[in-house]
Amino acid sequence: MRIGVPSQASGLERRVAIVPETVGRIRKQFGEGVEVVVESGAGEASFFRDEAYRDAGATVGSAADAWAADIVAFVRPPDEGEVGRLTEGAAVVGMLRPGQDENLWRAIVERRISALAFEATPRITRAQKCDALSSMSTVAGYRAVIRAAEAAPRFFPMLMTAAGTITPARALVLGAGVAGLQAIATLRRLGAVVSAFDVRPAVAEQVQSLGAKWVDLGMSAEGEGGYARAQTEEEQAKQRKLLGEVVVSSDIVITTALIPGRPAPRLIERATIERMKPGSVIVDLAAESGGNCEGAMADEAVTIGGAVVLGPTNLPAEMPLHASTLYSRNILAMLEEVVKDGALAIDPADELVGGALVTHAGEARHRLVREALGMPAEDAKGAAS
Ligand code: NAI
Repeated sequence: MRIGVPSQASGLERRVAIVPETVGRIRKQFGEGVEVVVESGAGEASFFRDEAYRDAGATVGSAADAWAADIVAFVRPPDEGEVGRLTEGAAVVGMLRPGQDENLWRAIVERRISALAFEATPRITRAQKCDALSSMSTVAGYRAVIRAAEAAPRFFPMLMTAAGTITPARALVLGAGVAGLQAIATLRRLGAVVSAFDVRPAVAEQVQSLGAKWVDLGMSAEGEGGYARAQTEEEQAKQRKLLGEVVVSSDIVITTALIPGRPAPRLIERATIERMKPGSVIVDLAAESGGNCEGAMADEAVTIGGAVVLGPTNLPAEMPLHASTLYSRNILAMLEEVVKDGALAIDPADELVGGALVTHAGEARHRLVREALGMPAEDAKGAAS
């Protein structure tokens, strides 16, 4: 059996789905019968050379060799044309954006591809080791702070120097999920004074344990499965009003608020940003889903009043070495669920595998894929459907 790793590095993307360390583990765990075929140069942009893959036991080959494997590992979805390079009936695993591109998903179903999407993996305890959403959010939360520090015209820590004292930066984190908590921890390590808010009051304790102040707005929008629910327009307006003064008094704001499957909630209005001090920096991690800040633009730096609003959409790709390393471990964990005795053995009845399995044997299983293809969503399968 062959596991393929095509090169997906282009433009902003610099990650690779499987790193040499994981090749070694695959060889050890799955035995000689399982071969990893890496496209030559696939790891170059994340600083993993062909020699390192060979040393770990992989075969370094052409793009065609990698695409023709029984399981192909991706860091982002292939495009419609690339689906034709996959062997009919093969499996693919990775961040696949279920349903987002109708033509791509039609091609995947027609070629009877078994698609295992991290986005659809149920967030059950057993699945934590293959939770690429969390590992990439960890990278994004850290990197957002580094980006903010780079764009800020000020120190983050308090400094006592011969030239007098510099007061620490005041930072605000909105949304304290995986990315937000990592942003808080990183801001604290850099010495900023941090406040944070989330609509799930349950995270107040975690925020405080990281040394940040919990902004208590007396509001909650706790949804199902530990996620936030969408707020009403009234609730959102109230939140924007209450948060306004906290935003205006902050030098650095990192926003990470997302509602699964919905546009990002609007937390900060343009008029509020205009009132911020000159030199303030906002990093909006929700820019791709519409933005938490009015005026944020995906992958752009927008100046509003004296503040700059950054809207990076693929921060993990800016730290490709460690982002690929974590991602690759998530891929291995998923492979452990579907490779049995050296062969591909997908069990759609299994809670973890069945949830992640968005297409299989010519069938669109996941709700979002079915909706994209104009099929009735109520027939969707899997825990996360
Ligand atoms: P996410 O990326 O979907 O959202 C980010 C954060 O934004 C969430 O904390 C959410 O509550 C918050 N938010 C939404 N609307 C908001 C608003 N209007 N104002 C302020 N904040 C708002 O969340 P993520 O990082 O995926 O984590 C969500 C939950 O899932 C957490 O409870 C986390 O602990 C849990 N989780 C569970 C895992 C498991 O395997 N059991 C793995 C990872 C996360």
